[in-house]
Order: sequence, then structure tokens, then C-alpha cells
Amino acid sequence: MPDQQKIDEIKATLARARAVAVLTGAGVSADSGVPTFRGTDGLWRNFRAEDLATPEAFARDPRLVWEWYNWRRELIATKHPNEAHRALVELERRHERFLLITQNVDGLHRDAGSSRLLEIHGNIWTVRCTACKQIEDNREVPIAIPPHCRACHGLLRPHIVWFGEALEEEALDRSMGAVTSCDVLLIIGTSGVVNPAASFAGIAKAGGAFVAEMNLEETPQSAMVDLAVRGRASDTVPLLL
Ligand code: OAD
Repeated sequence: MPDQQKIDEIKATLARARAVAVLTGAGVSADSGVPTFRGTDGLWRNFRAEDLATPEAFARDPRLVWEWYNWRRELIATKHPNEAHRALVELERRHERFLLITQNVDGLHRDAGSSRLLEIHGNIWTVRCTACKQIEDNREVPIAIPPHCRACHGLLRPHIVWFGEALEEEALDRSMGAVTSCDVLLIIGTSGVVNPAASFAGIAKAGGAFVAEMNLEETPQSAMVDLAVRGRASDTVPLLL
């Protein structure tokens, strides 16, 4: 099916939908200049995200993990939302029942103005004390390494869900609720290999929803979805409006 026809079909389905859910990943921010995790530019000193974004890596070498996050914080601090982020704000405005679930920790959806938004992996501008568990905003770039809690002097860590860690219960419940009850699920710019987000397409389809994928490349989910649109998110997502 030609891409225009696919876009028209998604638009028609959205127009009929009572409840819309959207799942985004690093591909949405790629057009703002934020490197994806599994693209070649996502490597930092030859480490993969799976080598650094874990509680074990942090326990072993908190300085190294913080240096990686400082690299990402420096990068993200200079970036702005793109047309895909903005189009999703407009989509939210048009639907009474809507939830944007993002795996991105860069905060660009929030900067664009999305408010029915769930950052299921957390936010890079939030830190948590490993001792007293207090959570606070921190926009320092670079953050002084190793950073310490102002209240108890414990070691601070990024308030981000790492590999091997569970999502916050409320985030999991809300995202599962939206995915099981939506009429349309849009999956944009994610490789679809990290759970639980990787399971959303199957769950939505089992509930009878129409599922569309928008990605630069084919993913493990492409075969399962109703429609797959290839292209840059900042080009394709605005076409849905
Ligand atoms: P990945 O880096 O795994 O995947 C990015 C996806 O975006 C790929 O499928 C690309 O084909 C696609 N892509 C790249 N540029 C694009 C563009 N301009 N337009 C549309 N699509 C594009 O990133 P995620 O799937 O988000 O977790 O990764 C999931 C999680 O794994 C992340 O949240 C992160 C990571 O480790 C944590 O940090 C806990």
C-alpha cells in the first residue's frame, strides 16, 4: 500500500476512535538531534545502553554511569522538540481519551506541551537519593560527579528505570489501562525490544485495537501491526493531522 494511502487509513481510524494511545521511543527525538540507543551514534565510549543503564553498573562504577548521563544531559540540554512532538500535542487536544506513553527520558514531549503524558522510564532531569530515596529536579549540566543528596549526603542516581528494574506500579497500571482499552495504538520511533513497551502492540491487538507503527526501519513488531509507515517521525507524524 502506498504511504499516502496508509496515512489516510490511520487518519480515518483516528477520526472514529474514542480512545487513543501512543507509544514513543528514541526515534521521535532523533530528529531533534538526540542519538537513539541502538543506532550507531548512541554508543558512548563503545558502551551499549545495556552496559550502563543497570543497577549493577551503577553499583560497580557510579562515576562511569554518571559520566555517561552527563554526556546525555549535555546533548539533550541543547535540543528542542520537533514537528513530531508538536503533532502529538495537537493529537492530544483532539481526543478526549488520550494517553502518550513515552520511553524517552529527555523531557521533549513535556517541553512541546504534552500533558496527558506518562514518562514510563523516568526523566533525565530528575535524581533520586540512593539512601533516603528523596526525588528532586536537577538541571545541572554537567552534574558534579559523584553527586550527593542535600538532605542526607547519600549518593544520588538518575531517577530513571534501568534494565532489570520494574516500572513504577502506577505508571505500569496507567499504561496497561490505556493500551488495553484504546481503539487505536500508534507506536512511533521505538525498536520494540524493551519490555513492557515491547508487549503493547500484542496487548492492544488482543483487545481489538487498530495498531499502526511509524518508524524509519522495520522492527520486530512490524509484522504484527495493522499498518507500518516508513519514514522520519518529524515528516510522517504531522501528516496524521
Ligand atoms: P532504540 O534506539 O532501541 O530504537 C530507536 C528506534 O527509532 C529504531 O527502531 C529506529 O529505527 C527508529 N528511528 C530512528 N530514527 C528515527 C526517525 N527519525 N523517525 C522515526 N523512527 C526513527 O530506542 P527505544 O526503542 O526508545 O531505556 O529504546 C527503548 C529503551 O531502551 C529506552 O527507553 C532506553 C533504552 O535502553 C532506558 O534508558 C531505561
